[in-house]
Amino acid sequence: MALLGCGVVGTEVVRLLREQADDLTARVGAPLELAGIAVRRMDRAREGVDPALLTTDAQGLVTSPDVDIVIEVIGGIEPARTLTLAAMKAGKSVITANKALLASDGETLFAAAREYGADLYYEASVAGAIPLLRPLRESLVGDHVHRVLGIVNGTTNYILDQMDSRDAGFNEALEEAQALGYAEADPTADVEGFDAAAKAAILAQLAFHTHVTAADVHREGITEVTAADVAGAKAMDSVVKLLAICERVPSATGSGDGEAGAGGDGATGGNGATGGDGAAAGDGAAAGDGAAGEPGARNGRGVSVRVYPAMIPRSHPLASVREAYNAVFVEAESAGSLMFYGAGAGGAPTASAILGDLVAVARNLVGGTPGPVEVTYAQLPVLPMGETTTRY
Ligand code: HSE
Repeated sequence: MALLGCGVVGTEVVRLLREQADDLTARVGAPLELAGIAVRRMDRAREGVDPALLTTDAQGLVTSPDVDIVIEVIGGIEPARTLTLAAMKAGKSVITANKALLASDGETLFAAAREYGADLYYEASVAGAIPLLRPLRESLVGDHVHRVLGIVNGTTNYILDQMDSRDAGFNEALEEAQALGYAEADPTADVEGFDAAAKAAILAQLAFHTHVTAADVHREGITEVTAADVAGAKAMDSVVKLLAICERVPSATGSGDGEAGAGGDGATGGNGATGGDGAAAGDGAAAGDGAAGEPGARNGRGVSVRVYPAMIPRSHPLASVREAYNAVFVEAESAGSLMFYGAGAGGAPTASAILGDLVAVARNLVGGTPGPVEVTYAQLPVLPMGETTTRY
């Protein structure tokens, strides 16, 4: 196996591989051996990392015959894109935490996985340690997901939480989030909402089986949220949170789309995630009719995917998401409303998700059975922000 990148997440992957080597071997049924770690600079100190494993020849490493699994934690588009494609072309399985790449060019990666019969796993790309993509990709694939809504960026949640709980300044809280290893290499991706938008695109694609990229996502960050905004929300017994919302938009007639049948329990519909109007809960009037309609009608007019700061009442479960934690509601027709909560950023939580993927991929290799391959079969238009089912 090869590791690309050895920053906050990569060093945690190395540590866990070392500390849990015996358990991992037992779970996989074969030893997991790290053949090399590709880095940009050899001279940086990396605690607990054997310098003999380091190389600057990433291309040589991913195509080496000693490597059958490549873990990519470089982040960003290039060289991650070229390297992961080269790895799959050479028949290697790929595990990536790279939400920016998946959200901008996921189709190319998925096509390569299909063409070369490679596994492509990416649980760590969204919501850190929280098992969220595999439930959407596997457990809920037989259901009809209406909506995915929640907090998917730990850095901005940390900043907003510190501004709310102890009147911290924006820049001070951002510096803390960077020091704690939550922020992206360029924290603009966090505070301007690019990171959350990429994650929203990945979630929408998995939830609705349709093609969505980060460019399709309506995006607003938190750089314009002021101390006065946070104090104003507090005065109304509310908090400001950066929300990611992915939802199907029902047909204009409201018939035959089966929308919002799961929204009626109030877990998110009617939560007033900033308004308490419960519009989503209310449009369940047509729920259930969809089974008789053709798939296009059932899927509604399209999907809406958006990221923006919103004021939510303190009584709502999302308001109690503190520090760099994430929480995501998934509303599906038969499953109802599901809530996923946990550590959304940081080295160890992200490494946990990567190791979960690693064991799955290694088991697939040992058993000779590849994992699921993404196929987006619906072509649902991504609608502008004005066309949403719920007013926030
Ligand atoms: N910068 C990201 C965040 C890391 O703060 O959520 C986890 O994807």
